[in-house]
Amino acid sequence: MVTHDVIIIGAGLAGMRAAVEAARHGLNVVIVSKVHPVRSHSVAAQGGINAAIGEDDSWKSHAFDTVKGSDYLGDQDAIEIMCEEAPKDILELDSMGAIFSRGEDGRIAQRPFGGAGFPRTCFAADRTGHALLHVLYEQVIKHGIGIYEEWFVLSIVVEDNECRGIIAMNIHTGQIHRLQAKSVILAAGGYGRVYKNSTNALINTGDGMKLALDAGAPLMDMEFVQFHPTTLKTTGILVTEGARGEGGYLINSLGERFMSKYAPNALELASRDVVSRAEQKEIEEGRGMDGCVLLDLRHLGRGKIDERLPQIRSLAVDFEGVDPVKEPIPIKPGAHYSMGGIKTDIDGMTEVEGLFAAGECACVSVHGANRLGGNSLLEAIVCGRRAGHTASVYAVESKLPVFPDRALKEAAHSVSVIMNRATGERASKIRDELAETMIKNVGVFRTKERLTTALDKLKELRRRYKSVYIEDKSDVFNTELIETIELGSLLAIAECIIKGAMNRTESRGAHYRLDFPERDDTNWLKHTMFCKDGDEIKIDYKDVVVTKYKPMERKY
Ligand code: FUM
Repeated sequence: MVTHDVIIIGAGLAGMRAAVEAARHGLNVVIVSKVHPVRSHSVAAQGGINAAIGEDDSWKSHAFDTVKGSDYLGDQDAIEIMCEEAPKDILELDSMGAIFSRGEDGRIAQRPFGGAGFPRTCFAADRTGHALLHVLYEQVIKHGIGIYEEWFVLSIVVEDNECRGIIAMNIHTGQIHRLQAKSVILAAGGYGRVYKNSTNALINTGDGMKLALDAGAPLMDMEFVQFHPTTLKTTGILVTEGARGEGGYLINSLGERFMSKYAPNALELASRDVVSRAEQKEIEEGRGMDGCVLLDLRHLGRGKIDERLPQIRSLAVDFEGVDPVKEPIPIKPGAHYSMGGIKTDIDGMTEVEGLFAAGECACVSVHGANRLGGNSLLEAIVCGRRAGHTASVYAVESKLPVFPDRALKEAAHSVSVIMNRATGERASKIRDELAETMIKNVGVFRTKERLTTALDKLKELRRRYKSVYIEDKSDVFNTELIETIELGSLLAIAECIIKGAMNRTESRGAHYRLDFPERDDTNWLKHTMFCKDGDEIKIDYKDVVVTKYKPMERKY
């Protein structure tokens, strides 16, 4: 068995920022990641990171926009802390060497983003996640932080509600190992792949959230799934909100700039839930083209497109055969981000001692029912740093916990059950059917009938998953085995989303019920909590923290 002070699961922005903070405490810190760190999904973030660093801006105005964007479900104490600490974190990233785009005056440039009352999104052209992830990887190397690269975590080891470490498989060898630790931080990202149309990488299968559920740490607000308004028609690849921030229009098949009907003031820069619903409505009412509407950038001109949106241009050319300098890009809403996740406080603490979480897999909650673009990289940095600090203090004050013998046997047994099955169904078929049913029935518009259909299908898929079969029986780099375990996570996450959405008989943020189209603060200004109860998911509720922003009607 190997021993560390702090183990971080996930090597995206939140995980690497947490690791750097823990290393600054002089601790033995390691990262465990199923992919090489710079292949983590944060690398795909495009448009930017929010912070009130403009002279006429203020963190209070950032906090108000975030609360309003969250449709008043975000916890306002946590939102205030994130927005107040944002400028310092941006300046630290800048001093680490992040290559932010600059204005004429040499200061960090900022672009307008949806739902924001001020242009406060800092960016590195349209490759912001890429720029930040590489800078943090350099910091990880500089601090000598160890990386278990291409290792897959099978379980969080908990006894008496105390985290004792993890069990993980080295994907290169198939060997299963015990890693003992004083504290563990989950920073394993989102679950976008539970849906068919998604901006997310294939690795985004909600493993971190499933590990937390199994370990006894509740999840929160899982019914809130963000659909990004602009994803490429054929592949679902992200087309940054920065394209609209730079002045891009949305048009329907009649050539109308249809957002004037839905958000007369903010137009294309309304919050994402509003824009995605508008697009979906246009498409469903017959004013789309082949299941899409169009994003028009032509009026920006080649110079601006090449300077500010170079990646968008090449993605549109390579994956859609459309050059945005000459033609509008066909786009549609796609699953992008999970507002819900592992319930933590603003310091990253979960309800299991010694277990912390940060980034997309966590729910603090700073996004509530709808996240503003540019606030996810921010949350990853601010909350990653804070979780790294808290987990380090916890580790300094704790003794190494006793690691139970049963943990390795249990994990090895569950793997061997899958590996030893001689016949059955392949995981990929179940995964495809799940993704199809989720996009059809639990997407931008939901109804009781659609959600019931999804739950019935999920029950069938869960039953079939019990007899799933693996053809590849080798130990070395067995991706079929990994994908089968990931499917177990996707099924658990889907159950939480569907059940949370069925119960919530109102519309708020990204959760829109055609049969309950109004927000209902009397009955539903509350968070949904999800725990495991044997084989089932049990639901409970928790109050939202309101400080000074009283809920009011949200208009853009
Ligand atoms: O549109 C985008 O560039 C995505 C940003 C975000 O999700 O924060």
